[in-house]
Amino acid sequence: MKNLPIKIVSTGRYAPDNVMTNDDFSKILDTNDEWITTRTGIKRRHIAQGETAIDMAYKAALKAVENKNYDKEKIDLIIVASITSPVKTPSIANLIQAKLGLNHKNIVAFDINAACSGFVYAVEIAASMISSGNYKSALVIGSEHMSSIIDWEDRSTAILFGDAAGAAIIEVSDNPKDNAYFWNGSRGDDTGILWIDPKVKMAGREVYKFAVDIMPKAIHKVLEKAGLTIDDIDYIIPHQANYRIIQSVAKDMNLPIERFLMNLEEYGNTSAASIPFLLDEHKTNNPEVKRVLFVGFGGGFTWGAAILNV
Ligand code: ACO
Repeated sequence: MKNLPIKIVSTGRYAPDNVMTNDDFSKILDTNDEWITTRTGIKRRHIAQGETAIDMAYKAALKAVENKNYDKEKIDLIIVASITSPVKTPSIANLIQAKLGLNHKNIVAFDINAACSGFVYAVEIAASMISSGNYKSALVIGSEHMSSIIDWEDRSTAILFGDAAGAAIIEVSDNPKDNAYFWNGSRGDDTGILWIDPKVKMAGREVYKFAVDIMPKAIHKVLEKAGLTIDDIDYIIPHQANYRIIQSVAKDMNLPIERFLMNLEEYGNTSAASIPFLLDEHKTNNPEVKRVLFVGFGGGFTWGAAILNV
């Protein structure tokens, strides 16, 4: 296994201002705040108005550049994880290159689709590419316009999702302690359980069962790969799908729920954006370096777990 010493040198996030509460949903669907809160933990979600996954990706990327006054000319790799681009081509990453004014540079830019696990997949791809020595600075983004693909008449899915983007700039580290570890994977047999064609369709209970099984497994596997125990991890940043899923994982692992960072009450499930968005929130409040563990799952099925210093 090749070492992947990386450092996240800056992060950024963006969510639209427009908020939709559970009570707002109860005006258009046969649902209520009590049902949504007890089944999911979600209270609000931010819904884009006139913005796309491209616009949100750009705003999060710009924040990541501005936050540390980062020299954007250093960026030579852009990867965007998204399942909600309004266009098939150009990729969101291509458009971010242009919007950042980097068209004069020879940048490799592409999007990936691994549903809600997309950001963790993208970080592994970026880590591998920059560790090869061929690239120096990767801008990795998760951006989702989930409100554009939900069926607004389906109460079992519409209430779950929100819109947002998160971005991270990653460079190679010369400190071997910054080695990153991944346990990403897929099981391509979920047809009929979770798919988007053209709107989100989901057998919620099946997804739930998959999530509570794979999340602890992924955490154990990535810890094993790193030769670490859970006590070596400062915070777990889980994909923000459902409070009950995270609670079940905490119980399964005999860990206090406080070890798991959460913001789903405010933003709902923002798919590939949820982990980088939460990472930036966390970094803003805790600027000192910490070792974090990302863990997510999504359509495909896919899953992703990573341990890295942030
Ligand atoms: N308000 C009121 N009632 C509702 C609602 C709602 N919003 N949605 C469903 N119900 C009803 C159902 O119709 C059903 O009624 P019935 O018993 O009369 O048939 C009842 O509530 C129970 O429905 P279930 O689907 O069995 O409810 P469950 O307890 O499983 O909770 C939920 C549903 C929240 C979706 C849960 O299964 C879950 O969280 N699953 C995982 C979902 C997930 O994480 N998806 C995203 C993963 S991938 C990605 O992030 C892209």
